[in-house]
Amino acid sequence: MIVTIPGDGVGPDVVAAARRVLDAAGSKFGFKLAWREILAGGCAIDAYGVAVREEDLQIADTADALLLGAVGGPKWDNPNGTVRPEQALFAFRTRYELFANLRPVTIYPELADASPLKAERLKGVDMLMVRELTGGLYFGKPSGEEVTPTGRRAVDTLPYHEDEIHRVAVIAFELARTRRKSVTSVDKANVLSTSRLWRKVVTEVGADYPDVKLEHRLVDSTAMLLATWPATFDVVVTENLFGDILSDEAAVLAGSLGMLPSASLGARRTAHGTFGLYEPIHGSAPDIAGKNLANPIGTILSGAMLLRESLGRADAAAAVEQAVANTIRMGVRTADLAPGLDAAGARAAGFTLAGTREATDAIVEQLLSLK
Ligand code: IPM
Ligand code: MG
Repeated sequence: MIVTIPGDGVGPDVVAAARRVLDAAGSKFGFKLAWREILAGGCAIDAYGVAVREEDLQIADTADALLLGAVGGPKWDNPNGTVRPEQALFAFRTRYELFANLRPVTIYPELADASPLKAERLKGVDMLMVRELTGGLYFGKPSGEEVTPTGRRAVDTLPYHEDEIHRVAVIAFELARTRRKSVTSVDKANVLSTSRLWRKVVTEVGADYPDVKLEHRLVDSTAMLLATWPATFDVVVTENLFGDILSDEAAVLAGSLGMLPSASLGARRTAHGTFGLYEPIHGSAPDIAGKNLANPIGTILSGAMLLRESLGRADAAAAVEQAVANTIRMGVRTADLAPGLDAAGARAAGFTLAGTREATDAIVEQLLSLK
């Protein structure tokens, strides 16, 4: 069973799209998916006064996978508020110990014009960010603000235990084995103690993977290389906050944040694989919510990751990915991939401007017609 968490803003638009594509994949490959839905994020704050209710988490407990749209929006943006939409994300991450956040960045050659980077720099870009998701500054204690005799003071704490580093490093090396066999571990070992431990533990794990090339790189120089020669990277593994920042930077390469999927995995198993939470990396984009404008591809590709990792359906996952690639090749684009163009302008530029639903229709059609 899959639990959907449409959330806020464009979340419901893109989750509905992904659900249609996954159902179509089921009908093509001869399986039927069961679905349930829960409220989390701003909509849950409005309905129940909390970002996610315990009874809804208990429904999520029974799922093989969670498919989330987006949470948050200006309405709930008070950073000092005691209830905030992101608390739902942290609840899922900690409850299921989703310590490995996978963010693949693939470039579709047809979309090179939508990327801010020169096309020649994009050639060969195919990287996988593996971000540690349940440790570091996000959860370290103490954290808070206090009033001292000389003024206000705030503190956050950056702790890492070697086991937390070890388990995410293992995932990075295992995944590298299925790819180009290269891991870049990102840290700030010239300054931070946690980074020095990070480097040691990743090196130790790497010794078990002599077939995988390991490189250590400082986070500042990684940020620069991502924006200059991104094709250098295969698997990139890093701690929570560095991963948050670098994965948004890497996402820009694809031409639109709307294109990119993610999976958050932990140690919890399902009947056919690993339990996970899947979501596009874009946010709730409230300005275009409910207007049939959102790019559904990030969520649809998250659905493909769900099929592969949590349901053991690599065949259906590959078909969904192929259907997306074919649809892009046909020139179907949502507005985020055609900035400033109306329908006529898009036609003149050689592609078809599509809404969320029409782009999803095209993907479903491609999927069903795959040989
Ligand atoms: C992400 C987001 C979250 C994070 C926010 C919404 C708390 O930016 O998933 O990358 O920082 O982890
Ligand atoms: Mg982020």
